Amino acid sequence: MSAMTQSLVDAAIDAAKTAYAPYSNFHVGAALLLDNGQIVTGSNFENASYGMTLCAETVAISKANSDGQLQAIREIAVAGGLAGHVGTAAEPITPCGRCRQIIKEVADLTKTDIPVHCAHATGYTTFRLSELLPHGFGPANLK
Ligand code: THU
Repeated sequence: MSAMTQSLVDAAIDAAKTAYAPYSNFHVGAALLLDNGQIVTGSNFENASYGMTLCAETVAISKANSDGQLQAIREIAVAGGLAGHVGTAAEPITPCGRCRQIIKEVADLTKTDIPVHCAHATGYTTFRLSELLPHGFGPANLK
């Protein structure tokens, strides 16, 4: 457990406060650590047409991309839970399947097996993207 990683996880927990999740009441925050030390955050953004929901990780990565920082992403932290209970589950909240695929794009672009720090009640658990999405489809498959 490093203090820097804990502060990235704390940023994800904090980002979950901006979640727009009136349907599930499940608030998720994501925090991206950039190579210059800056942190980009995102939160889930639901829609009355439920399937259109955007996950926190996808929002954060899209924000970084539109700031021209897609290739600068080095680490990701994720925290989720029912409103008022973010980061308090016994087990780590890990990215959904679609977000794992989105993270893979970053991992392949940066040639980094991105660490994904997932918050839980006693801290966080770090997974590598290759653990979360083994044998994934990526840019190299299109060549
Ligand atoms: N959610 C995320 O934001 N990220 C994930 O990786 C898992 C799920 C959101 C989507 C939805 O708004 C709520 O959590 C419940 O599924």
